[in-house]
Amino acid sequence: MNKDFIAKHWYAYIYEQMENQTHDVEFLLEVLRRNTDGSPQRILEVACGGGRICIPLAQAGHMVTGFDADEHMLLRCYRRMKGLSNITCYKADALSSDWGFGFDVVVLGGNILINIESDMDYEKAQQTFIRKAAMALRPGGHLYLDFDLHFNPSEIFNGLGESSYFNGTDDLGTWGRTVSCGEAYDPVTRICTGTGHWEIKANNGESFVIPQRWYKHIPTQGQVYGWISEAGLSVERTYKNYTDEPLSEPIDESTHRATIWARRN
Ligand SMILES: C[S@@+](CC[C@H](N)C(=O)[O-])C[C@H]1O[C@@H](n2cnc3c(N)ncnc32)[C@H](O)[C@@H]1O
Repeated sequence: MNKDFIAKHWYAYIYEQMENQTHDVEFLLEVLRRNTDGSPQRILEVACGGGRICIPLAQAGHMVTGFDADEHMLLRCYRRMKGLSNITCYKADALSSDWGFGFDVVVLGGNILINIESDMDYEKAQQTFIRKAAMALRPGGHLYLDFDLHFNPSEIFNGLGESSYFNGTDDLGTWGRTVSCGEAYDPVTRICTGTGHWEIKANNGESFVIPQRWYKHIPTQGQVYGWISEAGLSVERTYKNYTDEPLSEPIDESTHRATIWARRN
């Protein structure tokens, strides 16, 4: 095993342990109950990771397909799929692969819109995710898009100083912690960039560091609505901060999360 393998296995394990919130998944299930006829839906979850969202969808009786670029995450999903005949998952990069077609619902959840990993221009990648989602839907099918949308990103995405998000030991005995050394946000380009590293101690006692640099574009509400419209989708419902309250246009200061239910024309 090389260092990259050990570190990525550790990260996937710790991610599953620490990022195990269910409120967004329960909200998705409720939106599906309210906005469909109650029959099992053919659902694609893009960037499904370890299955935090797609496994409960399958457990609720839907016919689920999930894919992700990270095989360490996918292995965790595969473990959780045991005994479920109505879910499949596979490895693929969302930007270079064909997403299939004819789905009733495409889920872009888990804040994937600002967690895309690719070499493509970030804004273009975000627009491409929405365009590909539309192409994977049957006419009349729906996109479920759930992402962070802040009134003032400068307040959220600026900060220097060291912090650690994940810390712990995995099932192989690898210990690690993520270290962020800070991030900066440009309000003109809406690009946010950060730097840090993972500190890893393998189960043989060897310590090493994996550098991390990240870069993302924080879209405006108008941009997202524009991408949705250009993709041939119509917004039917919006939800602010996982409540029944629709998003205002423009969003107000108390907005931090946007959920959009949009129909393929
Ligand atoms: C924040 S995690 C969310 C995972 C899961 N949906 C959840 O909510 O727990 C983001 C996931 O997106 C995947 N991802 C990022 N960019 C991707 C791409 N270009 N193609 C496929 N998967 C991608 C990562 O591998 C990671 O598993």
